[in-house]
Amino acid sequence: SGAMAEEAKKRAAYAAVDNHVQDSHVVGVGSGSTIVYAVDRLAERVRQEKLKIVCVPTSFQARQLILKHGLPLSDLDRHPELDVAIDGADEVDSSLTLIKGGGGCLAQEKIVADCAKHFIVIADYRKDSKCLGQQWKKGVPIEVIPMAYVPVSRVITRRFGGETVLRMGINKAGPVVTDNSNFILDWKFESVHNWKEVNMAIKMIPGVVETGLFVGMAERVYFGMQDGTV
Ligand code: A5P
Repeated sequence: SGAMAEEAKKRAAYAAVDNHVQDSHVVGVGSGSTIVYAVDRLAERVRQEKLKIVCVPTSFQARQLILKHGLPLSDLDRHPELDVAIDGADEVDSSLTLIKGGGGCLAQEKIVADCAKHFIVIADYRKDSKCLGQQWKKGVPIEVIPMAYVPVSRVITRRFGGETVLRMGINKAGPVVTDNSNFILDWKFESVHNWKEVNMAIKMIPGVVETGLFVGMAERVYFGMQDGTV
């Protein structure tokens, strides 16, 4: 993405960390490219303000980011209650329903977000939508148990239309394998849906581990704008 979008991500990330992270907090660390700026800022504040925080990752990538900055790494076994979780999103609608999972980390992201008192989203202006599907044309990522991907795909398209695509690796032959050793189906929907109902219905299909629809979870979204404001 361009320099303007990168600057927007950085401003959103810094604003969220500055407004929502305090001393002694347990912080959920999301995945993707925007969260990189948030972890930069977290590390800076830990150095400058001597904050004592603990970080819980949402992916292998997040774990590596935390370790790279020398931040205290924990997990949900030791810290099942988080003060705040910060994460990116692929698309956000006007009721703060999110599509996530462009990076394949949706299941752990949703678990960590659900354990947090406050779930804060950071994104650049390109993620801002009135209604889902306007920006993120790749559809809703759905994590599935590998042996179930065909039946799950058939049920989804029969009931909700559109089409599903098994996400394939880029520098690897065959499908993308998630941090939980599962596959990702990208469901390209064709119409507007009641996302709360669709999310629950898809989640009930045997073989579905998690959906990339985050309904009623985000408390606040920070958008970095093209004019430099947040
Ligand atoms: C990871 O699976 C995703 O849910 C990311 O949080 C989301 O794709 C946002 O990523 P960017 O910050 O790179 O846009």
